[in-house]
Amino acid sequence: MKANKTLIVCFSTHHGNTRKVVDALAAEHEEITVVDIRDADQVNPSDYSLIGLASGIYYGHFGKPLISWAETLPAGSPVFTLYTYGAKRDGYVNDINEVLRKRNCRIAGSFGCPGYDTFGPFRLIGGIAKGHPTPTDIRQASSFYEHLKKQERIN
Ligand SMILES: Cc1cc2nc3c(=O)[nH]c(=O)nc-3n(C[C@H](O)[C@H](O)[C@H](O)COP(=O)(O)O)c2cc1C
Repeated sequence: MKANKTLIVCFSTHHGNTRKVVDALAAEHEEITVVDIRDADQVNPSDYSLIGLASGIYYGHFGKPLISWAETLPAGSPVFTLYTYGAKRDGYVNDINEVLRKRNCRIAGSFGCPGYDTFGPFRLIGGIAKGHPTPTDIRQASSFYEHLKKQERIN
């Protein structure tokens, strides 16, 4: 296990909202490596001391390819989830958390914020959550990650 390294695997297909949040975190923290889910087979999660799973919410769930990748995580991995959604609702992390529990991964924390959504009928009204993620959303994501770093003793 490599000390003081965070890997964030990202699935962000709608407007790149989730990727925007993740890239902002990576710009502030040099220990973060960001990998698109399509390149996730090129990294070894065992090399990292903390793993982030980042996704937009699609039909109430994290992106399927990210859920499938989570099913291959080594047991005991400390994992956090990060997501963007059009409309706030409980339960967006239920499926991914279930996978993580089955893998005996430790769920270190979770962060969600709005992301511009023009899916389906929302397109007709110009979308919802316009302008998100905002600088405030990104600041909150940053505070969340700072807290995680302390909790996981990453420096
Ligand atoms: C096919 C599809 C399904 C979606 N389903 C939901 C949903 O169930 N709940 C929700 O709040 N947002 C939903 N959204 C909106 C996205 O979660 C939101 O825009 C998110 O920020 C997209 O992230 P991305 O740009 O990183 O892909 C959906 C978007 C798409 C394209």
